[in-house]
Amino acid sequence: MNRLVQFATIAAFAAPALAQSAEWGQCGGQGWTGPTTCVAGTTCVFSNPYYSQCLPGTAVPTVTPTETPTPTPTSTPTTTAKPSSSSTATGTGGAAPTAVIGAATGPGLNKYAQAAGLKYFGSATDNPELTDQPYIAILSNTNEFGQITPGNSMKWDATEPTQNTFTFSGGDAILNLAKGNGQILRAHNLVWYSQLPSWVTSGSWTNATLTAAMTNHISNVAGHYKGEVYCWDAVNEPFNDDGTFRTDVFYNTIGQSYIATALQAARKADPNAKLYINDYNIEGPGAKSTAMINLVTSLKAQGVPIDGIGVQGHLIVGELPSGIEQNLAAFAALGVEVAITELDIRMTLPSTPALLAQQQKDYQTVVAACKAVSACVGITIWDYTDKYSWVPATFSGQGAACPWDANLGIKAAYNGILAGF
Ligand SMILES: *[C@@H]1O[C@H](CO)[C@@H](O)[C@H](O)[C@H]1NC(C)=O
Repeated sequence: MNRLVQFATIAAFAAPALAQSAEWGQCGGQGWTGPTTCVAGTTCVFSNPYYSQCLPGTAVPTVTPTETPTPTPTSTPTTTAKPSSSSTATGTGGAAPTAVIGAATGPGLNKYAQAAGLKYFGSATDNPELTDQPYIAILSNTNEFGQITPGNSMKWDATEPTQNTFTFSGGDAILNLAKGNGQILRAHNLVWYSQLPSWVTSGSWTNATLTAAMTNHISNVAGHYKGEVYCWDAVNEPFNDDGTFRTDVFYNTIGQSYIATALQAARKADPNAKLYINDYNIEGPGAKSTAMINLVTSLKAQGVPIDGIGVQGHLIVGELPSGIEQNLAAFAALGVEVAITELDIRMTLPSTPALLAQQQKDYQTVVAACKAVSACVGITIWDYTDKYSWVPATFSGQGAACPWDANLGIKAAYNGILAGF
């Protein structure tokens, strides 16, 4: 057991015994058995039904922990005074904020993202995690997260496992969590080469029959969530790393026009959802980013609806591409918004203080690049904790990619994100 894990464990078990919660500590919420009062100089502020937190200062809340909250899904989450605002409202002043390493929550990633002009800071989650109460308490804290992405339950294999038979229970559960918390939802995804049911990958298709099946999928799934989601990753990962189109069943059968057809069907199904094309290895300039620029330019020239480019951001500690800000600005110059949609920064295990410090810097670099580009609307981490990261199962020997450790304690990476804002 390393130091960090030890610290987090002690903090987690020590909290309920204390008479008062520390600054940034939890002080209420469903299932919370710890202290409900805060140390001097801080105030217990209601965040959502699952979470209240001790925030610096006294001149804050309009809602107290005992009041019944009214969910307001489309409104901005209640926050305390923004850190950049002058005045005496909070104790944060102008000093750079930092979180306590090992604590469950800190000054608030979503709060600081919004103060920096972004719409949200968010996290992916997945249905098996929804029963983990300490995990959900942090995910539901709108100081930390203003947005949620379902990791798997809106994908094709989950929503249409048999042709024209749709199941929405998994996706609905995550949408309802987000709505209950007052968080926006990035819906993910409609057309992708992976996690397809076998009836799609092994069907004998013609251009016309596959186009009809794809359009039917989109109109049913995006239609089910019509009016409920901020955006859709309408087309996911259409490119190979060299910038050529990925030769999946859609490209091979329909040709490049499957992308335009998918976007048009998604717009028809949910006219208010922003439509994104989402891909990885497009963080910095290069062949794949150029291909994305060419595709979006061509779609716009044809009048095809396209509102955003999703930059996944599955990165490696110490190996960030250069020119991230310049690349995001080049995307934005096409007249679309940009988002970092799946950020995590993995390392070869075991993690060391040096790797964690480099990871902190790397998170700061990515966040600062988004902040510097006004069309970069938000940042989503691909789950907030190493407990549920996809990395160890996908990249052998690698992990520790998230800003919270596997015990739900804050890592140095969190402070890199804050510093980036
Ligand atoms: C499939 O049909 C569409 C619509 O008619 C057409 O634009 C496209 O070129 C066709 N693809 C192929 C591979 O023939």
